[in-house]
Amino acid sequence: MLSTLPRLIGHRGAKENAPENTLASIREAARQGARWVEVDVMLTRDQCPVLIHDDTLDRTTTGTGPVPLMDLADLQQLDAGRWFDAGFVGERVPTLEEAVALIRDLGLGLNLEIKPYPGQEEITAEVALNSLRPLWPSDRPLLLSSFEVPCLEVAQRLWPEIPRGYLLWDPPADWAAIADRIGAATLNVDQKRQTADSVAEYRATGRPVLSYTVNDAGRARTLFGWGVSAVFTDAPGRLARELGADA
Ligand code: G3P
Ligand code: MG
Repeated sequence: MLSTLPRLIGHRGAKENAPENTLASIREAARQGARWVEVDVMLTRDQCPVLIHDDTLDRTTTGTGPVPLMDLADLQQLDAGRWFDAGFVGERVPTLEEAVALIRDLGLGLNLEIKPYPGQEEITAEVALNSLRPLWPSDRPLLLSSFEVPCLEVAQRLWPEIPRGYLLWDPPADWAAIADRIGAATLNVDQKRQTADSVAEYRATGRPVLSYTVNDAGRARTLFGWGVSAVFTDAPGRLARELGADA
């Protein structure tokens, strides 16, 4: 599964050039040559898994308020492209199902980040994985990830054979024990907090280190030099060009 991990993973699709977590953003990532995309999944009020990053609708849609206070049918009336650029008016918040169909058709690998609204950790993971599982080709690369350990525990229980990425921002003191317990396959860490030593410490656990979010080619080179395996980038095409043979 992870043997085909590319150096560059499109973050929320290709967030620099298209509205994040939309079908347009996934298409844009593929157009730019990305081989994998990362997207975030959360539940609506009626427990439909949809692609959105924030807990609230305000920043990336024409709606307002917490995502779990709106049913899918109402959410689908919102515009998720207008905030980004007039050229994307009419873009919607996609369901996980719609996004997966497109990702499959485009031949991309997927890192699905389970992004629960606070308090909805288990149910978000359960519903998202039960939705994804029948749709995902068994031979296509897939990495499930989350900052929330309960989400990763659900993934471990429901779909153990799919690799799990443990997302870290400000790592707890016992991160290594947690990574062992949940059987984490990768450590997905904040690029801003990394040093040669921190990456070495993560790598010493035997896991590939992935790092978010890297939009600067020089920084990507430094991270790769420290042993980071892949970076999440908002601009997979631009970074690939700037990195040349290092990508
Ligand atoms: O999965 C990598 C990265 O997306 C984690 O942070 O906040 O962009 O979802 P965030
Ligand atoms: Mg994410």
